[in-house]
Amino acid sequence: MCRNLSKYALIFLFLALSGIIFLLRNIHTVENWNCHTISALYQLQSRIQSSFIPVNLPTFHHNRTFCAHLGQKPSPEDELEERYLLDSIAWPGPPPRTSPIVLRQTSDPVHSLFAILPTKEGREWHVGDQLEALVQMHDFQGRPKHYGGDFLLARLHSPEFGAGLAGKVLDHGNGFYSAMFPLLWVGSAQVEVTLVHSSEAVAVLRRLREERPDRVFFKSLFRLGFLSETTLCNMCLPPDQQPLCNYTDLYTGEPWYCYKPKVLGCDTRINHAKGGYLKHLLTNKEALLFQSGVNIKVRIHASGPDRINVLPPRKDRVEVESSVKPEAIQLATSGYYYEESWRPLNGVIMRQFNESSAITQCLKNKVIYMYGDSTVRQWFEHLLAFVPELKEFDLHSPKNVGPFMAVDSTHNILLKYRCHGPPIRFSTVIASELRYISNELDGLSGGPNTIVVLSIWAHFSTFPVEVYIRRLRHIRRAVLRLLDRAPGTIIVIRSANLQALDPEVSLYNSDWYSLQLDEVLRAMFKGLNVLLVDAWQMTLAHHFPHALHPPPAIIKNMIDMLLSCVCPETKKSQQ
Ligand SMILES: *[C@@H]1O[C@H](CO)[C@@H](O)[C@H](O)[C@H]1NC(C)=O
Ligand SMILES: *[C@@H]1O[C@H](CO)[C@@H](O)[C@H](O)[C@H]1NC(C)=O
Ligand SMILES: *[C@@H]1O[C@H](CO)[C@@H](O)[C@H](O)[C@H]1NC(C)=O
Repeated sequence: MCRNLSKYALIFLFLALSGIIFLLRNIHTVENWNCHTISALYQLQSRIQSSFIPVNLPTFHHNRTFCAHLGQKPSPEDELEERYLLDSIAWPGPPPRTSPIVLRQTSDPVHSLFAILPTKEGREWHVGDQLEALVQMHDFQGRPKHYGGDFLLARLHSPEFGAGLAGKVLDHGNGFYSAMFPLLWVGSAQVEVTLVHSSEAVAVLRRLREERPDRVFFKSLFRLGFLSETTLCNMCLPPDQQPLCNYTDLYTGEPWYCYKPKVLGCDTRINHAKGGYLKHLLTNKEALLFQSGVNIKVRIHASGPDRINVLPPRKDRVEVESSVKPEAIQLATSGYYYEESWRPLNGVIMRQFNESSAITQCLKNKVIYMYGDSTVRQWFEHLLAFVPELKEFDLHSPKNVGPFMAVDSTHNILLKYRCHGPPIRFSTVIASELRYISNELDGLSGGPNTIVVLSIWAHFSTFPVEVYIRRLRHIRRAVLRLLDRAPGTIIVIRSANLQALDPEVSLYNSDWYSLQLDEVLRAMFKGLNVLLVDAWQMTLAHHFPHALHPPPAIIKNMIDMLLSCVCPETKKSQQ
């Protein structure tokens, strides 16, 4: 389906006729075309966007710290897009207060409740309906909250069918929230609502993001002959303290700095590594907002029943698949688990690649480039572990850092992994291997035998969102150049996923940071000819505990989705 060229031509014709009207009417539905749209679609969209976005933009106030606006000045169009994106992820905060925060006035998951609507008995539920659960937040004294901004997750699941999906949470701004779910399978289904952080905690996280981009720091070793020195590095270093080495990338303008070593020159940099995490970022009162088992990822209970029984689709709905989709798409549900396997709703027909021979057959004559953080390195490791013919080629790279390469010379398969450029919190990346994804993409010839997989999110959570937007903008431009010069190149983007949070991890890697980045990622690649593997919903919908590196069962579903896009179901492959 992803590479069906005859459909390609049809789609293009269709687009030429109705694309403009369609796009203007509803740009949001475009994302459902992924995998087989055309890059022209994106170019068209971006042309329309520049005349489309400014309408009704609320006034934008943002504390413009110097870190967010380092590097090249964005063009007016880029600035407009940035405003639009930041506005689209605006998060309501608690009302301004005069006295410091006190725990007892903040959201308490134990005192909070949800109810499936309508609360009266007798409602029948059918596949294709939409389920709403109403959540009311209370504080630790049991008093109802009157403002929004709490970070809630919602999930609908049926353990007996290995089924689950992510709900959409709407903040009513008054202490009430609605969790919305499309009903996609028959049988008993249970609602689960979790408070990740109170709105008061989110306000603290937001302040840290804007004001403390130094809370994860980096270092580099400089060496010449017998001399060696290590200095502090970051994307933004206060320039008035010591002389700097400026490692701003010549092609992209991506900024990176280290303090200059006392003796050695800036050109003697040998490596880059994670330096550490700053502590004591919170006041004692603020620290109470981040307590495991109290107000980090704690379940909210139902005031009445938390499960419903879903009946088959109503008689007037003929075809199940087409009847369930509109609700799901409206709620931005990208897929659901059934019998433990992910069923995407974006048009990709899932195949299961249980045998390594099926994977080998699919990847025959392909070159697969994986760029990004450790969450895509997991894909590399998964393929290496499950496909015995794929042998790692020893590049003598540092463990867990790379670059890595694996080869199956019988089937002419080449698999490569390389980490993204700084900020990257890996231990000791050799300076010459510190490269930006966009520059790497510019060096690819591409084509129908090339697969590019990107995953870039986890290392950006300590920086203002502008930093991430700028990075993705460079990558998106490189992706478009690649698709223009080598149509048929398959581009796959793995989104952010949920992870285990404790009081400390929350301050650097909270799911709230990931959610904000993830929404930016989706918006920036919407309408491009890329496949989005929705790691966010795939980890939220699953019954496994959240983990930065999701367990193999989830990774297998992601790989199955990649392979289903590369090798769609045909008569031949059904044998
Ligand atoms: C805004 O940023 C400046 C630095 O540019 C900082 O000194 C100030 O504390 C910030 N204000 C708020 C309200 O975050
Ligand atoms: C670092 O170099 C870049 C590109 O050469 C330049 O634009 C930027 O102003 C420099 N930064 C500083 C702090 O001098
Ligand atoms: C793959 O394995 C799963 C789990 O064991 C099984 O349910 C499914 O039917 C298998 N699919 C194929 C195509 O073999």
